[in-house]
Amino acid sequence: MLTVQKLRVEYKENPVGLDVRFPRISWQLQSEKRDVLQQSYEIEVSAEADFRRRLWSSGRVYSEQSSHVELAELMVRSRQRYYYRVRVWDMEDRSTEWSETAFWEMGLLAQEEWQAEWISAPLSLLDVEAEQCPLLRGSFHTAAKPLKARMYATALGLYELELNGSRVGDGYLTPGWTSYGQRLQVQAYDITAQIAAGENAVGAWLGNGWYKGNLGWDNRRHIFGSRTALLMQIHLTYEDGSEQIFATGENWTAAAGPILMSELYHGESYDARLELSGFSRAGYDDSRWSRVELITHSKEMLVAQANVPVRKIEQIKPLKLLKTPAGETVLDMGQNMVGWMQFSLDAPRGRQVELVHFEVLDRDGNVYTDNLRGARQKITYIAKGGGPESYEPRFTFQGFRYVQLTGFGEEPSLQDFTGIVLHSDMERTGFFACSNPLINQLQHNILWGQKGNFVDVPTDCPQRDERLGWTGDAQMFIRTSAYLMNVAPFFTKWLKDLSADQLDNGGVPFVIPNVLGENEHSSSAWGDAAVICPWTIYQCYGDKRILEEQYPSMQGWVEYIRQQGQDEYLWDTGFHFGDWLGLDAKPDSYKGATDTALIATAFYAYSVQLLQKTAGVLGRTEDARQYSELHSRIKEAFKHEFITPSGRLSVPTQTACVLALMFGLVEGTAKERTTDKLLKLLEESGHHLTTGFVGTPYLNLVLSEAGHTDAAYKLLLQTDYPSWLYQVTQGATTIWEHWDGIKEDGSFWSKDMNSFNHYAYGAIGDFLYRHVAGIELDEAYPGYKAFVIKPQPGGGLTWTAAALETMYGRICSEWNITADQLEMSVSVPPNTSATLYLPKADLPRVLEGDVPLEHAAGVHSTEQLEHEVKVILGSGDYKFSYKLGAQ
Ligand code: BGC
Repeated sequence: MLTVQKLRVEYKENPVGLDVRFPRISWQLQSEKRDVLQQSYEIEVSAEADFRRRLWSSGRVYSEQSSHVELAELMVRSRQRYYYRVRVWDMEDRSTEWSETAFWEMGLLAQEEWQAEWISAPLSLLDVEAEQCPLLRGSFHTAAKPLKARMYATALGLYELELNGSRVGDGYLTPGWTSYGQRLQVQAYDITAQIAAGENAVGAWLGNGWYKGNLGWDNRRHIFGSRTALLMQIHLTYEDGSEQIFATGENWTAAAGPILMSELYHGESYDARLELSGFSRAGYDDSRWSRVELITHSKEMLVAQANVPVRKIEQIKPLKLLKTPAGETVLDMGQNMVGWMQFSLDAPRGRQVELVHFEVLDRDGNVYTDNLRGARQKITYIAKGGGPESYEPRFTFQGFRYVQLTGFGEEPSLQDFTGIVLHSDMERTGFFACSNPLINQLQHNILWGQKGNFVDVPTDCPQRDERLGWTGDAQMFIRTSAYLMNVAPFFTKWLKDLSADQLDNGGVPFVIPNVLGENEHSSSAWGDAAVICPWTIYQCYGDKRILEEQYPSMQGWVEYIRQQGQDEYLWDTGFHFGDWLGLDAKPDSYKGATDTALIATAFYAYSVQLLQKTAGVLGRTEDARQYSELHSRIKEAFKHEFITPSGRLSVPTQTACVLALMFGLVEGTAKERTTDKLLKLLEESGHHLTTGFVGTPYLNLVLSEAGHTDAAYKLLLQTDYPSWLYQVTQGATTIWEHWDGIKEDGSFWSKDMNSFNHYAYGAIGDFLYRHVAGIELDEAYPGYKAFVIKPQPGGGLTWTAAALETMYGRICSEWNITADQLEMSVSVPPNTSATLYLPKADLPRVLEGDVPLEHAAGVHSTEQLEHEVKVILGSGDYKFSYKLGAQ
């Protein structure tokens, strides 16, 4: 039976509050059968769940498209809910039933619809220097219980709303971090169930967050503004069709709340004795509260939330309680995590407790906080007394594995503490395991690097006084991240901020949102995020719109580079981070030895090539032609500048070889010589890498693409410094910033820059999925409409099992070697096809299930190649087995 499943709009399940004018619908097919393709589809949209009146129907459309079908003819209206359903026909012309009904709902689409005013607490109420946080309150009366109630809210700073005593929504750190001057997100909530007939009350907590709090390592604050404020509007719809609006305005009241200090880096100080309990309930007496002040702030930059919300994703119980040699009381969470601690205590009124969060113990087993630099990561709580009480912060997050406790007494009970893991609630899509437990731990660490650093913005690290949207780091890790989780909405949002913050001349700030200032921009391999990220999202999710929307930004970046040097085709000017943290750096430098002009020109070529492909996809033929020509010229210039006439790469570093190979800048003899050189350099360093941020992500890929998978495995499997598994053997639970963050003698890399949760080197995840398990895109069929499975067993691994949830469904690739027999299970989702390469296979000896490969259902074609058998597969689940050939 063929069915239509997993209906999504803009990647989301039944979203409320969209502002996308032409929403795109995606669905998946499910079938027990093999070789299933969609021949045609039909979509119906209605304003009612029972489809009594249709607003729009696509009619029967003959197309295989099942993701991102744009509803271009539907004129969407503000706040309207749209129900939709889909049915499809297969190639035998059999139709499915209508899918289950799904919906989406638009948010406030026009600025004029905002009746709400920006309200702020009078500054005289607060200890402004200490960054105390206010509470705001408003109430309203409803004649009857409304049929439908929605709340739209945003803030300057962070907000948390309560309605009639209970929290609104399950998002945290709202409204999220954007380029606040130009884009501020609005969240929409269905509050129908929370509204009462009669008196209702809304209470708001405001925090400083990214808008007003400390950001960056030089202790700056008030970067976007100096005053927190709330903008909120409730729309009520009654049975008779009448509407009522209740919004923030001058009749709201404000009070200083129990949050004495709240900072993303520093934590929170909370005096529970100052709680104003029940303030968000009807009937609460706020006569001693002050009137709010109206402030002027534009509403022009309001946009709907594009990203998935930050939520509480999981809970971790502490592993153990430690007493350090220095006498400190410390909780070990067993995992370097990002979020906060929830705790309960039974203490007398006025008792102060403290929690300091940190990543590692020092060599002697004592608390180590030096690598947090200026970030205090400290929670201070003053008890109200009178029985058990519990607490968790609101407007901060910490990166930590350990928590030092003060004031909890000699033997705090582990039961009283829970770690709350927070991050953007992205769907987990990638799963990878193999026969080597160290690699499995590495995989775990990569995943946790992503969890900890995808808190609304892709950050370099989540713990020290940085946590910024470094473009380079994002670019290096994006492909791996797209294996592990669905990162499309996450990057859709961030790239809009990148466009917003891009300079007029096309330069790209080092961090997005830009908090470093106008002068800190445009290093190669960092700014290239403007091109690499949209292209990667397009490739992984088939999302053409992101290319359309980002095209001016992508082009802006390339044109910026073009203006930089004397020579239009080389980039040999300006500041670059270079092969950041490369091990071939001079002492006292973070910049690896690879010539930055080589790096810059190589990335220039790569960005131009991707821009050319993008122009092609978007049908901009003239641009495609021009950029193709530009690309050839850059390649020529690269050759002229960096390759000797006899084909030797003149910059003899691992990273130089990697980039030249990865970006196709060496051909023929030069390619051979560069590959040989890379192998030689690796041999000279005892099969260890010297690469930094720029070279590392591609190192294993180029080796295996050049047919040297064994060399790639050698690197992967090293357990001594420098290697991925060195940190694993040192007990790491996330990816480190430095290969020797902790040295073999237990001492640390210098405290000025030593994060233990930095995802950049986690980019090796790409190699695990792409080459070890072999799940690879087919560039011509983005979003895995067609894809390749080309596993490369090696490194002594006896099995690997990987899966990837795509827009079409789940791809699986599992291989298992016993003696000289290889078994392989493969899943190809309906409406897709795969090109499978069976390693070391001899065609006549391959079985699928118990039939010879060539006779198996779903197999379209087979071909014996030199070292492998190539099979074209339709959808379905397959099991192959064969005796390994001698090749
Ligand atoms: C960050 C990096 C970033 C770099 C720029 C560091 O402080 O942590 O990950 O890319 O600066 O070189």
